[in-house]
Amino acid sequence: MSESYNVIAIDGPAASGKSSVAKALARRLGFVYVNTGEMYRAVTWQVLESGVDPKDMDAVRACIAEMNIECGVAGQQSTVSVNGASPGDALVGEGVNASVSFIAKVPEVRQRLVDLQRAYADRCDAVMEGRDIGSIVFPDTPYKFYIDASEEVRAARRAKQGLKDSIGQRDKQDTTRRNSPLVIAEDAHVIDSSHLTVDGVTGEIIGRLKMKGFLSSDF
Ligand code: DC
Repeated sequence: MSESYNVIAIDGPAASGKSSVAKALARRLGFVYVNTGEMYRAVTWQVLESGVDPKDMDAVRACIAEMNIECGVAGQQSTVSVNGASPGDALVGEGVNASVSFIAKVPEVRQRLVDLQRAYADRCDAVMEGRDIGSIVFPDTPYKFYIDASEEVRAARRAKQGLKDSIGQRDKQDTTRRNSPLVIAEDAHVIDSSHLTVDGVTGEIIGRLKMKGFLSSDF
């Protein structure tokens, strides 16, 4: 697989801090920040809006076959719309949180979204975050990071955001699904963010990118 632009892959479990870090890193590098979790969330939102049971894989398959999913860029950030609508705040609502892992394990959903994610590499330099970016979507990128944090720290972060999220349950589903489970890519650099700030993690990634010669030492 050859991507024409640079892709920096950032994977990790829910609330590991990867979104804040990916966003900050993209800003510093002038790259586009691509949030792939948002794509799975947007599809989930549409499944729920259509009245389909997220656990009914055949019904989900039929629903996604009819779905028009568009991914773009606005400013420095990825956008996603489904059947012409952008779900906005509903993307991080309780309903979507509770169902997204069921939708994310449907192979047809993953294939559609992985194709859309790969298309970004024809368009722009990107910092892309998710669960399988380094392992499946861009296995050839030399720039892979895996951000982790203890379950207690991650649950506390979600609570501080005022969001209800069954992190433990989602972790279990995301790591045990048959199709593209959350794994640490062999050549990923792992960072435990439990006791680090966003700047701290971003700084560590930048240090690593300098070591690899991707950034100059005076960046
Ligand atoms: O990053 P997030 O919590 O917004 O992701 C929501 C869900 O989407 C997550 O529980 C699993 C799924 N996901 C995935 O399977 N693969 C990705 N690349 C990104 C997210």
